[in-house]
Amino acid sequence: LASQAEKPKVYKGLEGIYVTETRLSYIDGLHSKLYYVGYPIEALAKNSTYEEVAFLLYFLRLPRKDELDLFKALMAEARELPEDVLNVVKKMVSLKAHPMDILRTAVSYLAAYDPEVGVNTPESNLRKSLRILSKAPSIIAAMYRFSRNLDYIPPRKDLSHVENFLYMLHDKRPTEFETKVMDTIFILHAEHGMNASAFASLVTISTLSDIYSAVVSGIATLKGPLHGGAAEAAYYQFKEIGSPDKVEEWVQKALASKRRIMGMGHRVYKSYDPRAKIMRELDGEIAKIYGGEPKLLYEIAIKLEEVALREFAEKGRMDIQPNIDYYTPIAYTALGIPPEYFTTIFTASRIVGWTAKAMEYLKDPRLIRPLDLYVGELDKEYVPIDKRG
Ligand SMILES: CC(C)(COP(=O)(O)OP(=O)(O)OC[C@H]1O[C@@H](n2cnc3c(N)ncnc32)[C@H](O)[C@@H]1OP(=O)(O)O)[C@@H](O)C(=O)NCCC(=O)NCCS
Repeated sequence: LASQAEKPKVYKGLEGIYVTETRLSYIDGLHSKLYYVGYPIEALAKNSTYEEVAFLLYFLRLPRKDELDLFKALMAEARELPEDVLNVVKKMVSLKAHPMDILRTAVSYLAAYDPEVGVNTPESNLRKSLRILSKAPSIIAAMYRFSRNLDYIPPRKDLSHVENFLYMLHDKRPTEFETKVMDTIFILHAEHGMNASAFASLVTISTLSDIYSAVVSGIATLKGPLHGGAAEAAYYQFKEIGSPDKVEEWVQKALASKRRIMGMGHRVYKSYDPRAKIMRELDGEIAKIYGGEPKLLYEIAIKLEEVALREFAEKGRMDIQPNIDYYTPIAYTALGIPPEYFTTIFTASRIVGWTAKAMEYLKDPRLIRPLDLYVGELDKEYVPIDKRG
């Protein structure tokens, strides 16, 4: 065993370790900046659509109009789900499985219906990625409908990706504003550097497994409350607080008992998450338009941000600031999406990031195989079971 002096450094959580090169996204965590393929996130959130951002991430450039039309048509074409997949979703809903578990299982099940699952060429991987990307909202809408004893609404080809999603959820064509809100949410979640779920899916693809498996690994990893599950946790936290005038007392108690404020803090952003800033502005508009629960949640969130940032600053922790998950629950609530579905929507959007990254990695793959430092004993004597104390 290595002596203490020559003990290799263990990079717990792989913090600060670069595992690959990418052209997909760049986070400047000190200056509140995020870029997709070099485009500032603010410009994309303001001007683009999810389909255009997906094209950008897959082809590393913005599409011409004819290219975007074709790309949208291909996505719209792929929205249908096999009957068997719908039945699996229905069965899991009846078992009261968590929506993320249903989504993970349904995506995995879809692989059995894809004749190209074992083909690892770039063209085939792009086709499969588009299929998974296009079908994910249909899976989410199906579980939402089944869980409320409502009929499944088949997808429409004449609607945009997010318009169709909202239509399949609520059996009602969304307004222009609702579409804009959902497009913004989808754009902001599309890609985000080498986070835990991106790494998990990259580990999977680095073994030359397949795109479906890579996405399933991503979903499984995104589920956790320290990652994608934070929006759901932030929602329950706002509900627990109940009203803006309870914030002050709640924060004192929470910090005294070492509770984390959900939706704040980030491994990479040590300044305000630019996506949270975009959502915060949009939530302000939502609160005005919708009133009711979205407005109440917004007011609690704004007050909690003010009090928590003041407390963190007093401890010299100016680096703990709201992340995107802090401000999405307000928009989700306005769109009629219940908290247990928040992470599924993050997932539906992030599939483009995972698959784009997987395809980028496959251009020059290397098996991801780090080391763990053994710190146990060696050469122990094997004692027969009846002689063990
Ligand atoms: C995201 C997160 C996991 C990053 O964690 P990390 O990189 O391990 O955090 P850091 O090393 O920067 O900070 C750790 C310290 O800051 C504190 N801290 C970090 N985020 C905090 C939060 N949201 N509320 C209160 N304290 C927090 C921790 O208590 C910890 O203090 P300790 O060492 O005394 O226990 C963490 O900020 C967190 O749990 N946030 C809440 C969940 C969340 O919003 N996740 C979504 C991420 S997109």
